[in-house]
Amino acid sequence: MRPHLTRRRVTAAAALITGAVIAKRWQDGREHVRSAEAPGTPVSHPLFARFFARFAPMAEESGIAGHRDELLAGLRGRVVELGAGTGLNFARYPSSVTEVVAVEPEPYLRARAVAAALRAPVPVRVVEAVAETLPFEDGEFDMAVASLVLCSVPDQAAALEELRRVLRPDGKLHFYEHVLAEDPRLARLQRGVDLFWPHLGGGCHTSRSTVAAIEQAGFRDVSCRRFRFRPCMLAAPVSPMVIGQATRP
Ligand SMILES: C[S@@+](CC[C@H](N)C(=O)[O-])C[C@H]1O[C@@H](n2cnc3c(N)ncnc32)[C@H](O)[C@@H]1O
Repeated sequence: MRPHLTRRRVTAAAALITGAVIAKRWQDGREHVRSAEAPGTPVSHPLFARFFARFAPMAEESGIAGHRDELLAGLRGRVVELGAGTGLNFARYPSSVTEVVAVEPEPYLRARAVAAALRAPVPVRVVEAVAETLPFEDGEFDMAVASLVLCSVPDQAAALEELRRVLRPDGKLHFYEHVLAEDPRLARLQRGVDLFWPHLGGGCHTSRSTVAAIEQAGFRDVSCRRFRFRPCMLAAPVSPMVIGQATRP
């Protein structure tokens, strides 16, 4: 055995792999249960929600606030926002927006979003719903916003189909998401981490090809800026990011 492959390291690696396999089986089991759930089943991530509500505001100053401004620039008219969390976007909407209807299924986060809506510079209504079954009419919105949410929705294709349905023709989707890396080594790491990350991060997946999914959902003129954003070591699996726009045909 080579000196750096000590028995302790081999045991630790075996434990990690075993843990990942158990996590994957547990995840598969949960996905099976989830797929059997009726559409509109409430989302509840009480621990993650409390963690997110406490720490996400601190992360804003590391650069995320600037990303949000880039995301929201140019929005106007009636806007639907998916999975608004605690409403960190609300204060940043431009005055050209006449109304934001923000969907948030998680009860703890939704309560905070309602409070943030009261302080917003534009009218914001917070609605309990999931992205996969939006309680809105066809084509009733001019624009849509998805920020750090298409990683978390259980059925990304269904969520994008719904966004397309509720946007009017030529309506715009503005998105800000972490995605699967173009660098194959980082992509491999992301796929490995994705075996357990969703259980820690409220269903967040580290290896989704979200820009390709937006194209597959039938949006046209999909354009984005790709960049790496890693405010700390732990953020490596979610460091490849995109900010972009797409048009509903
Ligand atoms: C990481 S948080 C991001 C929150 C917010 N968009 C932001 O930019 O700060 C992910 C959000 O997705 C929401 N979410 C999870 N599953 C969802 C679903 N099926 N439909 C809509 N939102 C969902 C969560 O409740 C949470 O608020």
